[in-house]
Amino acid sequence: MIKFLLNGSWVMETELDPNMSVLRYLRTKRGLSGSKEGCASGDCGACTVLIGERSKGNGSQTVKYHAVNSCITLLGAMHGKHIVTVDGLNINEETHPVQQAMIASHGSQCGFCTPGIVMSLVGLRESQTSCSRKDVLESLSGNLCRCTGYRPIIDAAMASFDVADNKNIINTTPAWSAPEQEEVAGLHTVDADYFSPTSEAELTELLTKYPGARLIAGGTDLALEISQNYRSFDCLISLSDIEELTELSEAGNTLYVGAAATYSQVMPWLKTWYPEVVELFERIGSLQIRNRGTVGGNIANASPIADTPPVLLALDASLELASTAGRRVLSLKDFFLSYKQTQLQNGEYIRRIILPKPESNAIVKLYKVSKRYEDDISAVMAAFYLELEGARIKTVRLAFGGMAAVPKYADHAQTKLVGAEFTEASVAAAISALGEDFAPLSDVRASSAYRLKTAQNLLRKAYLEIANNMSLGVFSHA
Ligand SMILES: Cc1cc2nc3c(=O)[nH]c(=O)nc-3n(C[C@H](O)[C@H](O)[C@H](O)COP(=O)(O)OP(=O)(O)OC[C@H]3O[C@@H](n4cnc5c(N)ncnc54)[C@H](O)[C@@H]3O)c2cc1C
Ligand code: FES
Ligand code: FES
Repeated sequence: MIKFLLNGSWVMETELDPNMSVLRYLRTKRGLSGSKEGCASGDCGACTVLIGERSKGNGSQTVKYHAVNSCITLLGAMHGKHIVTVDGLNINEETHPVQQAMIASHGSQCGFCTPGIVMSLVGLRESQTSCSRKDVLESLSGNLCRCTGYRPIIDAAMASFDVADNKNIINTTPAWSAPEQEEVAGLHTVDADYFSPTSEAELTELLTKYPGARLIAGGTDLALEISQNYRSFDCLISLSDIEELTELSEAGNTLYVGAAATYSQVMPWLKTWYPEVVELFERIGSLQIRNRGTVGGNIANASPIADTPPVLLALDASLELASTAGRRVLSLKDFFLSYKQTQLQNGEYIRRIILPKPESNAIVKLYKVSKRYEDDISAVMAAFYLELEGARIKTVRLAFGGMAAVPKYADHAQTKLVGAEFTEASVAAAISALGEDFAPLSDVRASSAYRLKTAQNLLRKAYLEIANNMSLGVFSHA
Protein backbone atom coordinates (compact mmCIF):
# COMPACT_ATOMS: atom_id res chain seq x y z
CA MET A 1 0.00 0.00 0.00
CA ILE A 2 1.08 3.57 -0.61
CA LYS A 3 -0.57 6.62 0.94
CA PHE A 4 -0.11 10.13 -0.40
CA LEU A 5 -1.82 13.49 -0.69
CA LEU A 6 -3.29 14.34 -4.08
CA ASN A 7 -4.26 17.99 -4.39
CA GLY A 8 -4.82 18.18 -0.66
CA SER A 9 -6.70 14.89 -0.06
CA TRP A 10 -5.23 11.66 1.25
CA VAL A 11 -5.32 8.74 -1.18
CA MET A 12 -4.39 5.08 -0.66
CA GLU A 13 -3.45 2.75 -3.50
CA THR A 14 -2.35 -0.90 -3.49
CA GLU A 15 -3.16 -2.96 -6.54
CA LEU A 16 -1.85 -0.76 -9.31
CA ASP A 17 0.79 -1.56 -11.91
CA PRO A 18 4.18 -0.91 -10.25
CA ASN A 19 5.40 0.39 -13.63
CA MET A 20 2.72 3.09 -13.71
CA SER A 21 3.91 6.69 -14.02
CA VAL A 22 2.34 9.49 -12.00
CA LEU A 23 1.11 11.00 -15.30
CA ARG A 24 -0.65 7.82 -16.39
CA TYR A 25 -2.22 7.54 -12.93
CA LEU A 26 -3.47 11.13 -12.95
CA ARG A 27 -4.96 10.97 -16.42
CA THR A 28 -6.36 7.42 -16.52
CA LYS A 29 -7.23 6.63 -12.91
CA ARG A 30 -8.12 10.06 -11.52
CA GLY A 31 -9.50 11.92 -14.52
CA LEU A 32 -7.02 14.73 -13.87
CA SER A 33 -6.21 15.60 -17.47
CA GLY A 34 -4.64 19.03 -16.88
CA SER A 35 -1.13 17.56 -16.98
CA LYS A 36 -0.29 16.77 -20.61
CA GLU A 37 1.84 14.13 -22.26
CA GLY A 38 4.11 15.71 -24.85
CA CYS A 39 7.18 13.53 -25.12
CA ALA A 40 6.94 10.92 -22.31
CA SER A 41 10.69 11.22 -21.91
CA GLY A 42 11.25 14.10 -19.51
CA ASP A 43 12.16 16.58 -22.24
CA CYS A 44 9.18 18.89 -22.83
CA GLY A 45 7.80 19.61 -19.35
CA ALA A 46 4.11 19.50 -20.36
CA CYS A 47 3.52 16.91 -17.63
CA THR A 48 5.16 18.94 -14.82
CA VAL A 49 3.58 18.55 -11.38
CA LEU A 50 4.81 19.59 -7.95
CA ILE A 51 5.79 17.03 -5.36
CA GLY A 52 5.74 18.11 -1.72
CA GLU A 53 8.06 16.30 0.63
CA ARG A 54 8.73 16.71 4.31
CA SER A 55 12.32 17.57 5.15
CA LYS A 56 13.96 14.48 6.53
CA GLY A 57 15.08 14.11 10.17
CA ASN A 58 14.20 15.86 13.47
CA GLY A 59 10.49 15.07 13.00
CA SER A 60 10.43 18.23 10.86
CA GLN A 61 7.07 19.24 9.41
CA THR A 62 8.58 21.62 6.84
CA VAL A 63 7.27 20.69 3.41
CA LYS A 64 9.25 21.56 0.31
CA TYR A 65 7.67 21.51 -3.13
CA HIS A 66 9.65 20.81 -6.27
CA ALA A 67 8.74 20.40 -9.93
CA VAL A 68 9.11 16.97 -11.51
CA ASN A 69 8.25 15.31 -14.83
CA SER A 70 5.25 13.14 -13.99
CA CYS A 71 5.74 11.10 -17.20
CA ILE A 72 8.92 9.52 -15.84
CA THR A 73 8.17 9.61 -12.11
CA LEU A 74 6.68 6.32 -10.97
CA LEU A 75 3.61 6.36 -8.76
CA GLY A 76 5.21 3.91 -6.33
CA ALA A 77 7.66 6.66 -5.32
CA MET A 78 4.82 8.85 -4.03
CA HIS A 79 4.33 7.26 -0.61
CA GLY A 80 4.16 10.01 2.04
CA LYS A 81 4.36 12.81 -0.56
CA HIS A 82 1.94 15.48 -1.81
CA ILE A 83 1.22 15.58 -5.56
CA VAL A 84 -0.06 18.97 -6.70
CA THR A 85 -1.36 19.17 -10.25
CA VAL A 86 -2.57 22.11 -12.30
CA ASP A 87 -6.13 20.80 -11.81
CA GLY A 88 -5.80 21.22 -8.07
CA LEU A 89 -4.20 24.62 -8.03
CA ASN A 90 -7.30 26.65 -7.43
CA ILE A 91 -9.55 26.70 -4.46
CA ASN A 92 -12.99 28.37 -4.73
CA GLU A 93 -12.40 29.05 -8.44
CA GLU A 94 -9.64 31.55 -7.62
CA THR A 95 -6.77 31.51 -10.06
CA HIS A 96 -3.26 31.20 -8.69
CA PRO A 97 -1.08 34.36 -8.95
CA VAL A 98 1.00 32.62 -11.65
CA GLN A 99 -2.12 31.87 -13.68
CA GLN A 100 -3.31 35.47 -13.32
CA ALA A 101 0.07 36.76 -14.49
CA MET A 102 0.14 34.31 -17.45
CA ILE A 103 -3.27 35.61 -18.58
CA ALA A 104 -2.26 39.25 -18.16
CA SER A 105 1.03 38.77 -20.03
CA HIS A 106 -0.51 36.66 -22.86
CA GLY A 107 1.81 33.80 -21.92
CA SER A 108 -0.26 31.08 -23.65
CA GLN A 109 -1.34 30.41 -27.24
CA CYS A 110 -2.16 26.80 -28.14
CA GLY A 111 -1.89 26.06 -24.44
CA PHE A 112 -0.49 22.53 -24.60
CA CYS A 113 2.69 23.51 -22.80
CA THR A 114 0.90 25.92 -20.44
CA PRO A 115 -0.08 23.58 -17.56
CA GLY A 116 3.53 22.43 -17.23
CA ILE A 117 4.87 25.97 -17.44
CA VAL A 118 2.38 27.14 -14.82
CA MET A 119 3.43 24.34 -12.48
CA SER A 120 7.15 25.11 -12.91
CA LEU A 121 6.47 28.77 -12.15
CA VAL A 122 4.24 27.92 -9.18
CA GLY A 123 7.14 25.83 -7.89
CA LEU A 124 9.37 28.90 -8.15
CA ARG A 125 6.87 31.31 -6.61
CA GLU A 126 6.10 29.01 -3.70
CA SER A 127 9.77 28.46 -2.85
CA GLN A 128 10.96 32.08 -2.63
CA THR A 129 9.62 35.58 -2.03
CA SER A 130 11.33 37.36 -4.91
CA CYS A 131 13.05 36.20 -8.06
CA SER A 132 15.69 37.12 -10.60
CA ARG A 133 15.58 36.49 -14.34
CA LYS A 134 18.17 33.72 -13.79
CA ASP A 135 15.80 31.99 -11.32
CA VAL A 136 13.00 32.15 -13.89
CA LEU A 137 15.17 30.73 -16.67
CA GLU A 138 16.32 27.93 -14.39
CA SER A 139 12.75 27.08 -13.39
CA LEU A 140 11.73 27.01 -17.08
CA SER A 141 14.77 25.04 -18.25
CA GLY A 142 12.68 21.87 -18.66
CA ASN A 143 9.64 23.46 -20.32
CA LEU A 144 9.41 23.78 -24.10
CA CYS A 145 6.90 26.11 -25.73
CA ARG A 146 6.63 26.07 -29.50
CA CYS A 147 4.28 28.96 -30.19
CA THR A 148 4.24 31.69 -27.57
CA GLY A 149 7.90 32.62 -27.36
CA TYR A 150 9.38 32.85 -23.94
CA ARG A 151 9.31 36.62 -23.42
CA PRO A 152 5.67 36.87 -22.25
CA ILE A 153 6.15 33.75 -20.11
CA ILE A 154 9.21 35.24 -18.42
CA ASP A 155 7.30 38.51 -17.95
CA ALA A 156 4.48 36.55 -16.32
CA ALA A 157 6.91 34.76 -14.01
CA MET A 158 8.39 38.04 -12.79
CA ALA A 159 4.97 39.69 -12.49
CA SER A 160 3.50 36.78 -10.51
CA PHE A 161 5.59 37.86 -7.53
CA ASP A 162 3.62 41.15 -7.48
CA VAL A 163 0.19 39.48 -7.56
CA ALA A 164 -1.33 39.16 -4.09
CA ASP A 165 -1.38 35.62 -2.75
CA ASN A 166 -4.63 33.77 -2.37
CA LYS A 167 -5.67 30.52 -0.74
CA ASN A 168 -4.06 27.94 -2.95
CA ILE A 169 -3.65 24.25 -2.46
CA ILE A 170 -0.08 24.52 -1.27
CA ASN A 171 -0.53 26.97 1.55
CA THR A 172 -3.63 25.08 2.70
CA THR A 173 -1.96 21.65 2.82
CA PRO A 174 -3.64 19.65 5.59
CA ALA A 175 -1.75 18.67 8.74
CA TRP A 176 0.77 16.11 7.62
CA SER A 177 0.55 13.02 9.75
CA ALA A 178 3.24 10.41 9.11
CA PRO A 179 1.66 7.62 7.07
CA GLU A 180 1.31 4.58 9.35
CA GLN A 181 2.78 1.58 7.64
CA GLU A 182 3.44 -1.86 9.06
CA GLU A 183 5.18 -3.25 6.04
CA VAL A 184 7.39 -1.71 3.39
CA ALA A 185 5.29 0.71 1.33
CA GLY A 186 4.66 -0.33 -2.24
CA LEU A 187 2.37 -1.27 -5.09
CA HIS A 188 1.63 -4.88 -5.93
CA THR A 189 -0.18 -6.87 -8.59
CA VAL A 190 -0.05 -10.60 -9.26
CA ASP A 191 2.74 -9.97 -11.79
CA ALA A 192 4.82 -7.18 -10.33
CA ASP A 193 5.93 -5.34 -7.19
CA TYR A 194 7.26 -1.88 -6.30
CA PHE A 195 8.86 -1.53 -2.87
CA SER A 196 9.86 1.71 -1.12
CA PRO A 197 12.07 0.67 1.81
CA THR A 198 13.13 3.41 4.25
CA SER A 199 16.28 1.80 5.66
CA GLU A 200 19.24 -0.18 4.37
CA ALA A 201 18.16 -3.06 6.62
CA GLU A 202 14.83 -3.25 4.76
CA LEU A 203 16.66 -2.89 1.43
CA THR A 204 19.00 -5.80 2.24
CA GLU A 205 16.07 -7.98 3.26
CA LEU A 206 14.27 -7.22 -0.01
CA LEU A 207 17.40 -7.88 -2.08
CA THR A 208 17.73 -11.29 -0.42
CA LYS A 209 14.10 -12.11 -1.13
CA TYR A 210 14.04 -10.70 -4.68
CA PRO A 211 17.56 -11.19 -6.11
CA GLY A 212 16.42 -10.27 -9.63
CA ALA A 213 14.86 -6.96 -8.58
CA ARG A 214 15.77 -3.76 -10.42
CA LEU A 215 16.86 -0.82 -8.29
CA ILE A 216 15.38 2.58 -9.02
CA ALA A 217 16.41 5.97 -7.62
CA GLY A 218 15.04 9.03 -9.45
CA GLY A 219 13.98 6.91 -12.43
CA THR A 220 15.14 9.59 -14.91
CA ASP A 221 17.01 6.93 -16.86
CA LEU A 222 15.14 3.77 -15.90
CA ALA A 223 11.57 5.04 -16.34
CA LEU A 224 12.34 5.83 -19.98
CA GLU A 225 12.64 2.09 -20.57
CA ILE A 226 8.96 1.93 -19.55
CA SER A 227 7.72 5.10 -21.27
CA GLN A 228 9.78 4.77 -24.49
CA ASN A 229 10.46 1.03 -24.87
CA TYR A 230 7.20 -0.22 -23.25
CA ARG A 231 9.20 -2.38 -20.91
CA SER A 232 7.61 -3.74 -17.74
CA PHE A 233 9.65 -4.59 -14.65
CA ASP A 234 8.57 -7.49 -12.40
CA CYS A 235 10.14 -6.06 -9.28
CA LEU A 236 11.35 -2.54 -8.59
CA ILE A 237 13.02 -1.50 -5.34
CA SER A 238 13.28 2.22 -4.72
CA LEU A 239 16.33 3.80 -3.08
CA SER A 240 14.85 7.31 -2.83
CA ASP A 241 13.39 7.09 0.69
CA ILE A 242 16.37 5.38 2.35
CA GLU A 243 17.79 8.00 4.66
CA GLU A 244 21.31 6.49 4.80
CA LEU A 245 21.54 6.68 1.00
CA THR A 246 20.56 10.34 0.79
CA GLU A 247 22.97 11.59 3.46
CA LEU A 248 25.59 14.23 2.68
CA SER A 249 28.45 14.33 5.17
CA GLU A 250 32.12 15.16 5.65
CA ALA A 251 34.84 13.77 7.88
CA GLY A 252 38.37 15.17 7.88
CA ASN A 253 39.44 15.68 4.27
CA THR A 254 36.71 13.52 2.81
CA LEU A 255 33.22 14.19 1.48
CA TYR A 256 30.52 11.52 1.35
CA VAL A 257 27.68 11.91 -1.14
CA GLY A 258 24.74 9.54 -0.59
CA ALA A 259 24.16 7.76 -3.90
CA ALA A 260 20.40 8.43 -3.80
CA ALA A 261 20.71 12.16 -3.03
CA THR A 262 19.27 14.19 -5.91
CA TYR A 263 21.30 16.79 -7.77
CA SER A 264 19.11 19.48 -6.20
CA GLN A 265 20.02 18.19 -2.73
CA VAL A 266 23.73 17.83 -3.48
CA MET A 267 24.29 21.18 -5.21
CA PRO A 268 23.93 23.72 -2.35
CA TRP A 269 25.98 21.46 -0.06
CA LEU A 270 28.81 20.75 -2.52
CA LYS A 271 29.24 24.43 -3.44
CA THR A 272 31.55 25.04 -0.46
CA TRP A 273 34.21 22.71 -1.84
CA TYR A 274 33.58 22.40 -5.55
CA PRO A 275 31.72 25.43 -6.95
CA GLU A 276 32.87 24.44 -10.48
CA VAL A 277 31.08 21.11 -10.14
CA VAL A 278 27.88 22.80 -9.02
CA GLU A 279 28.05 25.14 -12.01
CA LEU A 280 28.36 22.07 -14.25
CA PHE A 281 25.46 20.33 -12.48
CA GLU A 282 23.29 23.35 -13.40
CA ARG A 283 23.55 22.07 -16.96
CA ILE A 284 22.42 18.51 -16.19
CA GLY A 285 18.96 18.00 -17.67
CA SER A 286 16.49 20.57 -16.36
CA LEU A 287 15.36 21.57 -12.89
CA GLN A 288 12.70 18.82 -13.06
CA ILE A 289 15.40 16.24 -13.88
CA ARG A 290 17.75 17.51 -11.15
CA ASN A 291 14.90 17.34 -8.63
CA ARG A 292 14.66 13.57 -9.19
CA GLY A 293 17.93 12.39 -10.77
CA THR A 294 20.79 11.19 -8.57
CA VAL A 295 24.56 10.98 -8.90
CA GLY A 296 24.40 7.28 -7.97
CA GLY A 297 21.94 6.65 -10.83
CA ASN A 298 24.16 8.56 -13.26
CA ILE A 299 27.15 6.36 -12.36
CA ALA A 300 25.29 3.03 -12.20
CA ASN A 301 23.62 3.69 -15.54
CA ALA A 302 27.15 3.67 -16.99
CA SER A 303 26.40 5.74 -20.05
CA PRO A 304 29.59 6.83 -21.85
CA ILE A 305 28.01 10.27 -22.31
CA ALA A 306 26.88 10.77 -18.70
CA ASP A 307 28.17 14.00 -17.18
CA THR A 308 29.18 13.11 -13.63
CA PRO A 309 31.61 10.18 -14.22
CA PRO A 310 34.31 12.29 -15.96
CA VAL A 311 33.93 14.95 -13.25
CA LEU A 312 34.23 12.40 -10.47
CA LEU A 313 37.18 10.72 -12.18
CA ALA A 314 38.95 14.07 -12.32
CA LEU A 315 38.27 14.51 -8.59
CA ASP A 316 39.64 11.00 -7.87
CA ALA A 317 36.36 9.67 -6.47
CA SER A 318 35.75 6.21 -5.04
CA LEU A 319 32.51 4.34 -4.59
CA GLU A 320 31.28 2.53 -1.53
CA LEU A 321 29.30 -0.48 -2.74
CA ALA A 322 27.07 -2.61 -0.53
CA SER A 323 25.18 -5.90 -0.78
CA THR A 324 24.04 -8.70 1.47
CA ALA A 325 27.69 -9.86 1.40
CA GLY A 326 28.92 -6.61 2.99
CA ARG A 327 30.57 -3.42 1.81
CA ARG A 328 33.58 -2.66 -0.39
CA VAL A 329 35.28 0.48 -1.65
CA LEU A 330 36.31 0.70 -5.26
CA SER A 331 38.09 3.46 -7.10
CA LEU A 332 35.75 4.93 -9.74
CA LYS A 333 38.42 4.34 -12.41
CA ASP A 334 38.02 0.57 -11.86
CA PHE A 335 34.20 0.66 -11.87
CA PHE A 336 33.48 0.87 -15.61
CA LEU A 337 34.42 -2.34 -17.46
CA SER A 338 33.10 -1.86 -20.99
CA TYR A 339 30.10 -0.26 -22.68
CA LYS A 340 27.34 -0.17 -20.01
CA GLN A 341 29.16 -2.89 -18.01
CA THR A 342 30.28 -2.15 -14.46
CA GLN A 343 31.74 -3.92 -11.46
CA LEU A 344 28.29 -4.00 -9.75
CA GLN A 345 27.37 -7.55 -8.83
CA ASN A 346 23.80 -8.82 -8.73
CA GLY A 347 22.11 -7.38 -5.61
CA GLU A 348 24.89 -4.87 -5.07
CA TYR A 349 24.24 -1.13 -4.97
CA ILE A 350 26.23 2.09 -4.80
CA ARG A 351 25.92 3.31 -1.24
CA ARG A 352 27.83 6.57 -1.45
CA ILE A 353 30.42 8.44 -3.46
CA ILE A 354 33.64 9.27 -1.64
CA LEU A 355 35.41 12.47 -2.65
CA PRO A 356 38.62 13.98 -1.35
CA LYS A 357 38.30 17.67 -0.51
CA PRO A 358 40.35 19.79 -2.93
CA GLU A 359 43.94 20.70 -2.06
CA SER A 360 44.49 24.44 -1.62
CA ASN A 361 46.42 24.59 -4.93
CA ALA A 362 43.85 22.55 -6.87
CA ILE A 363 42.57 23.77 -10.22
CA VAL A 364 39.34 22.27 -11.54
CA LYS A 365 38.19 22.91 -15.09
CA LEU A 366 34.97 21.36 -16.42
CA TYR A 367 33.56 21.71 -19.92
CA LYS A 368 30.30 20.29 -21.25
CA VAL A 369 29.80 20.55 -25.01
CA SER A 370 26.20 20.11 -26.11
CA LYS A 371 23.91 21.76 -28.62
CA ARG A 372 21.72 23.41 -25.98
CA TYR A 373 22.91 24.98 -22.73
CA GLU A 374 20.60 22.86 -20.59
CA ASP A 375 18.24 19.91 -21.10
CA ASP A 376 20.71 18.29 -23.49
CA ILE A 377 23.14 15.38 -23.41
CA SER A 378 26.87 16.03 -23.96
CA ALA A 379 28.70 15.34 -27.20
CA VAL A 380 31.95 15.69 -25.22
CA MET A 381 32.47 16.19 -21.51
CA ALA A 382 35.95 17.16 -20.32
CA ALA A 383 37.00 17.32 -16.68
CA PHE A 384 40.50 18.41 -15.64
CA TYR A 385 42.11 18.49 -12.20
CA LEU A 386 45.61 19.89 -11.64
CA GLU A 387 47.86 20.67 -8.72
CA LEU A 388 50.89 22.81 -9.46
CA GLU A 389 54.01 23.24 -7.35
CA GLY A 390 55.55 26.42 -8.62
CA ALA A 391 55.55 26.01 -12.38
CA ARG A 392 55.68 22.19 -12.18
CA ILE A 393 52.64 19.93 -12.51
CA LYS A 394 52.50 17.77 -9.40
CA THR A 395 49.17 16.04 -10.04
CA VAL A 396 47.08 15.90 -13.18
CA ARG A 397 43.90 14.05 -14.05
CA LEU A 398 42.28 14.52 -17.45
CA ALA A 399 38.97 12.66 -17.77
CA PHE A 400 36.57 12.58 -20.70
CA GLY A 401 33.05 11.44 -21.50
CA GLY A 402 31.75 10.86 -25.04
CA MET A 403 35.20 9.83 -26.26
CA ALA A 404 35.15 6.06 -25.66
CA ALA A 405 32.83 3.23 -24.63
CA VAL A 406 33.37 4.20 -20.99
CA PRO A 407 34.21 7.46 -19.23
CA LYS A 408 38.00 7.37 -18.83
CA TYR A 409 41.28 9.12 -18.23
CA ALA A 410 43.50 10.29 -21.08
CA ASP A 411 46.49 8.25 -19.87
CA HIS A 412 48.91 9.22 -22.64
CA ALA A 413 48.14 12.91 -22.34
CA GLN A 414 48.49 12.78 -18.55
CA THR A 415 51.96 11.20 -18.92
CA LYS A 416 53.07 14.18 -20.99
CA LEU A 417 52.07 16.56 -18.21
CA VAL A 418 52.85 14.99 -14.86
CA GLY A 419 56.15 16.28 -13.49
CA ALA A 420 56.53 18.65 -16.46
CA GLU A 421 56.55 22.45 -16.37
CA PHE A 422 53.11 23.86 -17.07
CA THR A 423 53.95 25.49 -20.39
CA GLU A 424 52.42 25.80 -23.82
CA ALA A 425 54.90 23.19 -25.11
CA SER A 426 54.02 20.52 -22.52
CA VAL A 427 50.29 21.15 -23.05
CA ALA A 428 50.79 20.92 -26.83
CA ALA A 429 52.44 17.50 -26.35
CA ALA A 430 49.48 16.39 -24.23
CA ILE A 431 47.05 17.67 -26.87
CA SER A 432 48.74 15.52 -29.54
CA ALA A 433 48.77 12.53 -27.21
CA LEU A 434 44.96 12.70 -26.94
CA GLY A 435 44.97 11.15 -30.41
CA GLU A 436 46.61 8.04 -28.91
CA ASP A 437 44.12 7.96 -26.05
CA PHE A 438 40.89 8.12 -28.00
CA ALA A 439 39.32 6.98 -31.26
CA PRO A 440 35.78 8.25 -30.59
CA LEU A 441 32.62 7.08 -32.37
CA SER A 442 30.58 9.12 -34.79
CA ASP A 443 26.92 9.33 -33.88
CA VAL A 444 23.91 11.62 -33.96
CA ARG A 445 25.55 14.06 -31.55
CA ALA A 446 28.96 14.48 -33.19
CA SER A 447 31.43 12.94 -35.61
CA SER A 448 34.58 11.19 -34.45
CA ALA A 449 36.79 13.96 -35.86
CA TYR A 450 34.68 16.68 -34.20
CA ARG A 451 34.92 14.91 -30.84
CA LEU A 452 38.69 14.53 -30.97
CA LYS A 453 39.24 18.11 -32.13
CA THR A 454 36.89 19.39 -29.43
CA ALA A 455 38.66 17.40 -26.70
CA GLN A 456 42.00 18.81 -27.88
CA ASN A 457 40.66 22.36 -28.00
CA LEU A 458 39.16 22.04 -24.52
CA LEU A 459 42.56 21.11 -23.11
CA ARG A 460 44.05 24.12 -24.85
CA LYS A 461 41.22 26.32 -23.52
CA ALA A 462 41.93 25.09 -19.98
CA TYR A 463 45.62 25.92 -20.40
CA LEU A 464 44.88 29.44 -21.65
CA GLU A 465 42.38 30.11 -18.85
CA ILE A 466 44.77 28.84 -16.18
CA ALA A 467 47.80 30.64 -17.62
CA ASN A 468 45.77 33.83 -17.77
CA ASN A 469 44.73 33.46 -14.13
CA MET A 470 48.31 32.69 -13.10
CA SER A 471 49.62 35.88 -14.63
CA LEU A 472 46.86 37.74 -12.80
CA GLY A 473 47.90 36.00 -9.61
CA VAL A 474 44.46 34.37 -9.18
CA PHE A 475 45.65 30.86 -8.71
CA SER A 476 44.73 29.10 -5.50
CA HIS A 477 41.51 27.10 -5.29
CA ALA A 478 40.28 28.77 -2.14
C1 LIG B 1 15.33 14.91 -20.15
C2 LIG B 1 16.56 14.28 -19.57
C3 LIG B 1 17.73 15.01 -19.54
C4 LIG B 1 18.90 14.44 -19.02
N1 LIG B 1 20.03 15.17 -19.02
C5 LIG B 1 21.17 14.61 -18.57
C6 LIG B 1 22.38 15.34 -18.61
O1 LIG B 1 22.43 16.52 -18.99
N2 LIG B 1 23.52 14.71 -18.19
C7 LIG B 1 23.50 13.43 -17.76
O2 LIG B 1 24.56 12.91 -17.40
N3 LIG B 1 22.35 12.72 -17.69
C8 LIG B 1 21.20 13.27 -18.09
N4 LIG B 1 20.03 12.55 -18.06
C9 LIG B 1 20.06 11.17 -17.57
C10 LIG B 1 19.64 11.01 -16.08
O3 LIG B 1 18.86 12.08 -15.64
C11 LIG B 1 20.87 10.89 -15.17
O4 LIG B 1 21.66 9.83 -15.60
C12 LIG B 1 20.49 10.69 -13.71
O5 LIG B 1 21.57 11.01 -12.90
C13 LIG B 1 20.02 9.27 -13.39
O6 LIG B 1 19.75 9.18 -12.01
P1 LIG B 1 18.42 8.48 -11.49
O7 LIG B 1 18.46 8.51 -10.01
O8 LIG B 1 17.23 9.05 -12.12
O9 LIG B 1 18.66 6.98 -12.02
P2 LIG B 1 17.59 5.83 -12.26
O10 LIG B 1 16.89 6.05 -13.54
O11 LIG B 1 16.76 5.63 -11.05
O12 LIG B 1 18.58 4.59 -12.40
C14 LIG B 1 19.48 4.48 -13.49
C15 LIG B 1 20.17 3.11 -13.42
O13 LIG B 1 21.01 3.04 -12.29
C16 LIG B 1 20.60 2.00 -11.38
N5 LIG B 1 20.78 2.60 -10.06
C17 LIG B 1 20.28 3.78 -9.61
N6 LIG B 1 20.80 4.07 -8.41
C18 LIG B 1 21.63 3.05 -8.08
C19 LIG B 1 22.47 2.78 -6.96
N7 LIG B 1 22.57 3.64 -5.93
N8 LIG B 1 23.18 1.64 -6.96
C20 LIG B 1 23.12 0.78 -8.01
N9 LIG B 1 22.34 0.98 -9.09
C21 LIG B 1 21.61 2.10 -9.13
C22 LIG B 1 19.18 1.65 -11.79
O14 LIG B 1 18.89 0.31 -11.53
C23 LIG B 1 19.21 1.95 -13.28
O15 LIG B 1 19.76 0.86 -13.97
C24 LIG B 1 18.85 13.10 -18.54
C25 LIG B 1 17.66 12.38 -18.55
C26 LIG B 1 16.53 12.96 -19.07
C27 LIG B 1 15.26 12.17 -19.07
S1 FES C 1 5.55 14.51 -21.28
FE1 FES C 1 7.30 15.65 -21.91
S2 FES C 1 8.39 15.85 -20.05
FE2 FES C 1 6.75 14.59 -19.53
S1 FES D 1 1.47 27.84 -26.04
FE1 FES D 1 1.61 26.40 -27.62
S2 FES D 1 3.32 25.19 -27.16
FE2 FES D 1 3.33 26.73 -25.66
